[in-house]
Amino acid sequence: MKVLMVCLGNICRSPLAEGILKSKSSELGWKVASAGTGAWHVGNPPDPRSIKVASEHGLDISGQRAQQFQAAHFDEYDYIYVMDSSNYRNVMKLARDKSDEAKVEILMNMSRPGMNQAVPDPYWGDDGFENVYQMIDEACDSIISNFS
Ligand code: 4NP
Repeated sequence: MKVLMVCLGNICRSPLAEGILKSKSSELGWKVASAGTGAWHVGNPPDPRSIKVASEHGLDISGQRAQQFQAAHFDEYDYIYVMDSSNYRNVMKLARDKSDEAKVEILMNMSRPGMNQAVPDPYWGDDGFENVYQMIDEACDSIISNFS
């Protein structure tokens, strides 16, 4: 199972999603990574607030580096989970065929099916990171129980 987590900047939400799913799947041999639809932060480590909330839950995500989502990722991954509907549109624009499109799903639909609920972008505020962590943790539990 190969999973790519996608948000806008690849410094707040998707690095947490990568760290959480990697940890939950550590004995399953999954490949888990993350990317952003935007290029502003390429090569940068996660936002310090994401590193902090991850560490409060026993995860070290500080070694991650941001990359931009590209069409080639459709070949490398089985599932591409996006954090919100804007990410969804931007990833779907790069899909080359129906098989690419079928790999893309809004992350929260894994635990709250059909609601298209966003993991809220916490970048511009200062609280929200714990809530983001909890939402992603819930969805990742569902991914693990669906696919293992
Ligand atoms: P993320 O948050 O998509 O969860 O990584 C953001 C990070 C950076 C920006 C926007 C959202 N930005 O505009 O730089």
